Amino acid sequence: MRAARIHGYGDASVIRYEEVPRPAPGPGQVLLQVAATSFNPTEIALRSGLLHSMFPLDLPHTLGWDVAGTVVEIGENVRTLAVGDRVIGRIDGGGTAAEYVAAPADSLVPAPTAIPLAEAAAIPLAGLTAWQAVFEHARVTPGQRVLVNGAGGGIGGFAVQLARHAGAKVIATASPRSAAVVRQLGADRTIDYTAAPVGDALDEPVDIVLNLVAISPQRAAALVPLVRPGGVLVSATIPVEPAPGTPVTAVRFVARNDTTQLAALVELVDAGAVRVDVAASRPLADLASVHRDAEAGRTRGKIILVP
Ligand SMILES: NC(=O)c1ccc[n+]([C@@H]2O[C@H](COP(=O)([O-])OP(=O)(O)OC[C@H]3O[C@@H](n4cnc5c(N)ncnc54)[C@H](OP(=O)(O)O)[C@@H]3O)[C@@H](O)[C@H]2O)c1
Repeated sequence: MRAARIHGYGDASVIRYEEVPRPAPGPGQVLLQVAATSFNPTEIALRSGLLHSMFPLDLPHTLGWDVAGTVVEIGENVRTLAVGDRVIGRIDGGGTAAEYVAAPADSLVPAPTAIPLAEAAAIPLAGLTAWQAVFEHARVTPGQRVLVNGAGGGIGGFAVQLARHAGAKVIATASPRSAAVVRQLGADRTIDYTAAPVGDALDEPVDIVLNLVAISPQRAAALVPLVRPGGVLVSATIPVEPAPGTPVTAVRFVARNDTTQLAALVELVDAGAVRVDVAASRPLADLASVHRDAEAGRTRGKIILVP
């Protein structure tokens, strides 16, 4: 089979789409024929070696955390899945940027039936991160005003929809290329972050800011006064430290895998309450070029990669 692997850390040229042995499912695993994986920008940091101390890799390493695929083989002790099942999941050890992956059965949930299987690869990592930002850390309640910073990104698209689903009024930052999509996803209003500081466009502070974009410490600090006293600032990227005495709770979090939440997301997709907005579908052979595009700021939303 073919897989997108790195043999060492470095720029996007270290990614090779090459012939490798097809894995066999171990105990507790199933073999999936991959319909698609999706690109997540954190993998740029993994590929370049920036995450080496936190997540040392056994090289060569096959990239890819998200998967949508079909079960083609069952390992020992797997009782919950059968050959032919269509599933999605976030596979923390990677390996989904390939034609086949051996995946732990307990990381997988049934794929949505309302959208094509390959498109569902856009859901796991970005959807779970948005879910945990909205429901666990911000605990959005009906009627709250929520500012989603980075709504044009993969996580942002889910966060806008989940905050709306929770009953919030959503204000979202988006550049002109993303503004229309972000409004279609449910933002009541968009602010063009490329035109002026976000605060200049807000008439009053919000209850919650969700920061879903890697920004400078200065830009992060400028988000604090946008939150009303007693409000919450949740960041999926840079930690934000309000000055002592500032009555704003700031939380930075790293999303974990959670199949109950993933199944709940699938249910919302099938019910038509959450749209999976796939900005582009590219051949997996183009993964290095997708990394280059993302590093140059040329990508938006979720990109799926099809082997
Ligand atoms: N904490 C966690 O567990 C966790 C998990 C996954 C990812 N992350 C991190 O979360 C971040 C977002 O991930 P993602 O997959 O959503 O990224 P993404 O899809 O690559 O986000 C790209 C989008 O960011 C927007 N953007 C860029 N600069 C901006 C700015 N200054 N203000 C507002 N929006 C800006 C752009 O929107 P426009 O199109 O509107 O220009 C662009 O479309 C990444 O840094 C990633 O590493 C964290």
